[in-house]
Amino acid sequence: MTANNPFSLIFSQPPHLMIPRLRESNLLLDYLNSAVPSTQAYLITGVRATGKTVLMTDISHKISEDPTWLRVTLNPELDMVRSLYEMLSNQLFYEQTDRGANRSPLICLPDDSEGREKDLQTALIGLLKQLKARRQKVLIDIDEATDSRLMLDFTSTFDLLLKERLPVFLLMTGLRDNLQKLLHKQSQTFLSQAPCVILGPLNTGAISESYQQVLNLDVNTALAMAKLTRGYAYAYQLLGYLCWENPGDYQAIIPQFRQYLEEYVYEKIWSELSHKDKQLAAAIARCDDGRIATIRAALDVDTNAFNPYRQRLINRGLVNGEERGFLRFTLPLFERFVLEQDQF
Ligand SMILES: Nc1ncnc2c1ncn2[C@@H]1O[C@H](COP(=O)(O)OP(=O)(O)O)[C@@H](O)[C@H]1O
Ligand SMILES: [Mg+2]
Repeated sequence: MTANNPFSLIFSQPPHLMIPRLRESNLLLDYLNSAVPSTQAYLITGVRATGKTVLMTDISHKISEDPTWLRVTLNPELDMVRSLYEMLSNQLFYEQTDRGANRSPLICLPDDSEGREKDLQTALIGLLKQLKARRQKVLIDIDEATDSRLMLDFTSTFDLLLKERLPVFLLMTGLRDNLQKLLHKQSQTFLSQAPCVILGPLNTGAISESYQQVLNLDVNTALAMAKLTRGYAYAYQLLGYLCWENPGDYQAIIPQFRQYLEEYVYEKIWSELSHKDKQLAAAIARCDDGRIATIRAALDVDTNAFNPYRQRLINRGLVNGEERGFLRFTLPLFERFVLEQDQF
């Protein structure tokens, strides 16, 4: 492996070569920067390794360049209400000492006392009121939300902060299933109104252009490679990475490309599907032209029974149903992977 390979196989970290997601980025930036935001929480979802974390990090980074915003990244495996309080109070404390002012007394929080949660919320509201008076806004980002106890505690507190009309905004990523479970448990909160951006493929033209320039390829080869990735973010990095390591005919590295996709992503995705989801995926994989009529006939189900399963695979980001009457996998070489699975 060469050290200077510009492509990256590391998940969750902004890559050196980034294909802009203009539509999704602009939508989220417009929401956050609007003078009178209609909601203060935004969700990002999509299949694994499609770029949710990278997009969230990029947006948060851009927003925090504006000094009226404070950015706070919370870890969903920790007590997020406490982390938020601690991060904001540290921030205020450092600002005050920086300016040579006296340190404002921080509210001391008991560790395990009964009223702990309430004390913490009161303290947090106090801090946010101070920030509001200074016209500062807080952007909280949370990666990979689930429906854990800690997440439920956080969303209830965030809901309370919104009811107090405090300047807090939330940007949160999660797999569709996890976000839906969370929403189901917290249906009375702000979450039911939060817009959800579903990440689609990266732009094929931009991928092709990038391959052309970085790998020094002709237009046709670069475009064929871009099409092979189907715009899947991880596949863009992976194919570029392997081509950089093995210059020459890209067809030669397709077996390696396939193996990486399967071992690093597809096996995990497959393990999360229900038996019925897998049956539908197998029928799609076996259907050469992607026609819904053929897929439904193979499964021997009527439209009513078929539609919920079709919708589930679309919601997970695994299947594209944009062309009326057709269903196709969004992930490169996924049909071949499905056909290789034991039970089908
Ligand atoms: N906009 C993008 N342009 C190029 N590569 C990207 C982009 N977004 C994500 N990637 C790459 O895709 C892979 C998965 O990204 P990540 O944000 O970790 O996905 P997710 O959070 O959806 O699982 C990483 O290798 C990352 O470098
Ligand atoms: Mg992620």
